[in-house]
Amino acid sequence: MRPVEIKKDIHWVGAVDYNTRDFHGYALSPNGTTYNAFLIKDEKVTLFDTVKHGHEDEFFENVALAAGSLEAVDYLVVNHLEPDHAGCLVETVERVKPEKIFCSPMGLKAMDSLYHMKDKGWNIEALPTGANLSLGRHTLQFLETRMLHWPDNMMTYIPEAKLLISSDAFGQNLASSERFVDEVDRAKLTELMREYFANIVLPFSPIVQKTFEQIQKLGWEIDMIAPDHGLMFRGKDVAFAIQQYAELAAQHPTRRATILFDTMWHSTETMARAIGDGLKDAGCEVTLMHLKANHHTSVMTEVSRSGAVIVGSPTHNNGILPYVAGALQYMKGLKPQNKVGGVFGSFGWSGESVKIIKEWLTSMNIDVVGEGVRTKNVPDAEMLAQCFDYGRQIAQAIEAKMEACGVK
Ligand code: FEO
Repeated sequence: MRPVEIKKDIHWVGAVDYNTRDFHGYALSPNGTTYNAFLIKDEKVTLFDTVKHGHEDEFFENVALAAGSLEAVDYLVVNHLEPDHAGCLVETVERVKPEKIFCSPMGLKAMDSLYHMKDKGWNIEALPTGANLSLGRHTLQFLETRMLHWPDNMMTYIPEAKLLISSDAFGQNLASSERFVDEVDRAKLTELMREYFANIVLPFSPIVQKTFEQIQKLGWEIDMIAPDHGLMFRGKDVAFAIQQYAELAAQHPTRRATILFDTMWHSTETMARAIGDGLKDAGCEVTLMHLKANHHTSVMTEVSRSGAVIVGSPTHNNGILPYVAGALQYMKGLKPQNKVGGVFGSFGWSGESVKIIKEWLTSMNIDVVGEGVRTKNVPDAEMLAQCFDYGRQIAQAIEAKMEACGVK
């Protein structure tokens, strides 16, 4: 993909990765992704970030096309050190030979342990929030966004262009020939924003809210947001992006439930269906996710839009099945908020699974309804009626949680 001028003298010079399905080493990206880098042509020609290792040919070609040559670049701004953005940092510095490199104070602290550059004689300056840097006709202003999503992240604002280079915030995983959100299907884009948020940004929701406040305080007027991954938001889509993010970060409970389970001989699965029927009967939308059939990435996307997460496993060797344990571990790290929970499972003899899952959910501050439902071997009609009733109880708990959170 060749460079694209996104504003006068400001060019996208990144790389489109149509092939990857592995995002950040732990999530799936079923639609590929992009590694966005930008270049400003001014008295000081300035490059923002690099790309993931393996995509350097496309990147260097784009930088050379936009700047005239690689050597024309004067400054390199490193907004984020994660290897999908700084993977070509060392090679970029060697080939471009920038007069100066800029990063956040936390970036400076972490750079050597990631890229072993301490002895290379790089001319680096750390820029804290509020710092200004003139390139000639353009000014760069910086905002540290620690833990959004690594400690080193920062955003750069260019007031003359009303452009916010937003680093990890507002990203989506999408490989596309288009560069702007208004050029693709809105429903798909919105879903990809949720998927990215639920799997990358969710634990940092309070930082998203704080960042919005800081941007307001700084008085930045924005008419384009350029994230590190995916497409850019321009014009009225800036408000759309901010509204989507505010809603995702608020994590308001909804009248929806996600039932996660694994099963050996279908007893736990049969219970899942009966609990789902009870929820549906009480007015909830329900998604059942067999954990052998659904990757934890899509599991978290569903959990993020649900008011309830209900988890089931048969007891296996005095514990829970490994796919259930994996999903719980992944979910716990992402710290979902404002949820109610449910637990269920079948057993043959010892029967610990329900208690173990309840402990997991409770440790995530999920309000589990009652003690859950357990069945010895195959659920009979009476047990399935109990499951149905448990689903109805969880639906009531969702209503109470919505009311407590001030959601209609
Ligand atoms: Fe794709 Fe935290 O970076």
